[in-house]
Amino acid sequence: MSNIEFSIDDKKLEALPGETVLKAALRNGIDIPYLCYHPCLSIAGNCRICLVRIKGRPGFHPSCNLPVAPGMEIESDCEDVSAVRKNVMQFITLNHPVDCPVCDKAGECKLQNYHFKYNGSASLSIDAKKHKPKFYDVNERILLDAERCILCSRCVRFTHEISKSGMLGITERGQQSRVEHLESGAAKDDYSDNIIQNCPVGALLSRDFLYKSRVWYLEPVASVCNGCARGCSVDVWRRKHHWKVRALGSEKNRMAYRITAKQNDDINGRWICNKGFDLNKQINDFASRATKPAIGGMDATCQDALSEARKLIFEAKKPAAIVSAHASNEELEAFKKTLGSRVEVYVRKDYEPAAGEVVEDELLIKADKNPNSTKVEELFGKESFSAAAGHDLVLVWGDNVEYSALSGAKIIHLATQKPNGNPDVLIPISTQFERKGSYTNFEGKVNRFEQVFDKPELVLHASDVFGRL
Ligand code: SF4
Ligand code: SF4
Ligand code: FES
Repeated sequence: MSNIEFSIDDKKLEALPGETVLKAALRNGIDIPYLCYHPCLSIAGNCRICLVRIKGRPGFHPSCNLPVAPGMEIESDCEDVSAVRKNVMQFITLNHPVDCPVCDKAGECKLQNYHFKYNGSASLSIDAKKHKPKFYDVNERILLDAERCILCSRCVRFTHEISKSGMLGITERGQQSRVEHLESGAAKDDYSDNIIQNCPVGALLSRDFLYKSRVWYLEPVASVCNGCARGCSVDVWRRKHHWKVRALGSEKNRMAYRITAKQNDDINGRWICNKGFDLNKQINDFASRATKPAIGGMDATCQDALSEARKLIFEAKKPAAIVSAHASNEELEAFKKTLGSRVEVYVRKDYEPAAGEVVEDELLIKADKNPNSTKVEELFGKESFSAAAGHDLVLVWGDNVEYSALSGAKIIHLATQKPNGNPDVLIPISTQFERKGSYTNFEGKVNRFEQVFDKPELVLHASDVFGRL
């Protein structure tokens, strides 16, 4: 079917067959406001901020629910439409507390932006605002401020159409309407944090991020979740350079404040699972980080640790290396080029599903809890370490290793986390968030991550270590 010709504000445009006016407008860079519309959810058409006029027809029409017809002439930027949007905003904020100064969504709230753009006037109502629950317990991760909720139903539709937990519904009528748990809904939703991100106002609040920072102090850095073989795109939110804390509390400069889903239509669409939203806990776990080189359990300089490791490899009769499925494509290539032919290589998946963790589902979560098994197996095969092979030296690259399984061989450990014992040589290496790189996911799709933070002083990049051994 061919495209449909129509116009918005006298600008000639083409819509795809079946497309709505709002979708066609947004695709063509025309800014029609919307609150309840979401490209991945069914159309609710209940907020009415997207109203437009059709020339030759009476009244106003919600553009999110209006299929384009040939020759249609839409008016979206005229006095009448602006007046109607102002009225709609007056209605939407009738009971909204407008407590932007303390709201976590301030700075990225659609309602706040539209208020400035289309309304700009104080409430006309002489009645007191209707009060509703301020901290309704959605689950162990999320609070709902029902007074801020504009009943757009995005969160309800998400739990019914995407995560399929059916956790939420809208109860009561009129002024009493509110989002609540549905008795029939599941208590648990492994994708629930997406509703925080997709609530157009500050009604749904992350308990983890609550009151931690104003969003304008922060900036997103593109990264990849390492929680499973899907390798979803995420944004890691760090403090902006010019808002760095320079006195007490400077550790805030090294923190990942929150994680949000980053749209990647090839890999994860617009969602991630809650494990992805928890990546900041992994990044902020400073207590577990390996930050100092050591020889036989005693602190050493980087130079001495590298010299000792080089000597051990030179003296070994049957050296082996265990290579991690958390290493990046670039590091694995560097290892293959420099050390790959000098040692026998085994691969290792550092992480197994944790107790109670969803092993696999139909939406995103994969059973392999490592981000780069595809590349490590492509370069080095699938063989795992065998104590029976009689190696006298093992270079372990990765975390979560039990030394007892290495049959008394000498150990050089390249680790991001403090190990469970004292290897002969410990070389702390940078985490994924302290360097650039890419992973290859279970479908063979390559996903890049950027550097979020500087590495600690005595930590080395693994790819720089190999050439020096
Ligand atoms: S909580 Fe947010 S997403 Fe859910 S209905 Fe209210 S405004 Fe919409
Ligand atoms: S599905 Fe896998 S890669 Fe995606 S956010 Fe969840 S754990 Fe991370
Ligand atoms: S976006 Fe069209 S009615 Fe809400």
